[in-house]
Amino acid sequence: MSAPSIVILTGAGISAESGLGTFRDEGGLWAQHRIEDVATPEGFARNPQLVVDFYNARRAQAADANPNAAHMALARLQAEHAGSVTLVTQNVDDLHEKGGSVDVIHMHGALNSALCATCEHRWPAPLAMSVGQDCPYCTGPTARPDIVWFGEIPYHMERIERALANADVFVAIGTSGNVYPAAGFVQMARHVGAETIEINLEPGENVGLFDDVRAGKASETVPNWVAEVLAG
Ligand code: OAD
Repeated sequence: MSAPSIVILTGAGISAESGLGTFRDEGGLWAQHRIEDVATPEGFARNPQLVVDFYNARRAQAADANPNAAHMALARLQAEHAGSVTLVTQNVDDLHEKGGSVDVIHMHGALNSALCATCEHRWPAPLAMSVGQDCPYCTGPTARPDIVWFGEIPYHMERIERALANADVFVAIGTSGNVYPAAGFVQMARHVGAETIEINLEPGENVGLFDDVRAGKASETVPNWVAEVLAG
């Protein structure tokens, strides 16, 4: 039999031990900020300064953060597994890349990218973006963080769905299973008969859809799982 095709979905929990706060854990980002204010197009239209400041703070935090053993284990899996490994993340930090992963699919955008709201041109975001910054391509004063806000369509969905349609194993790591479409990937994987595994500190909302649930900190559980896969 050929090596299994693996699709991995990561969420904020994988970066928690690198010092980046999650969204829905106690004291998390959504306890400190209102989603409507900082993570919707309407919030940005109402108060762009608040939104730009929120993502500037997160970009600065992410720039100082280092990958942990879980990020590094997934990079090792990508390098050493004989079958395909598709790494999809809801995270907007770049800790997978810093940990050595390649071709990371950032379905909710990326802090280190800026997007022109007029022409959709993208460019590397400065550490501190400002409101009304010009787009280097169309020159419109319409730069925004390249983040998928609530009410917007996540990026790379076709590619993700293609990978899920061919998955033998689907693994969700450090995500609470609250936000769709990502929370529905497990169902797509089940539909094609893939084995489904959740690796999380606390069970996610959709825990019942996983064949195997591994509880614990990502920095321990993920390297253990990767070692198991690589050992065959
Ligand atoms: P959440 O904050 O909703 O969930 C984080 C998950 O990580 C929880 O299930 C925790 O139990 C788990 N966790 C915490 N510490 C962990 C650790 N050390 N090891 C393993 N697991 C740990 O974050 P997400 O599910 O990523 O979207 O949130 C999904 C989306 O909602 C985000 O991408 C963001 C947010 O609103 C947008 O902003 C569009």
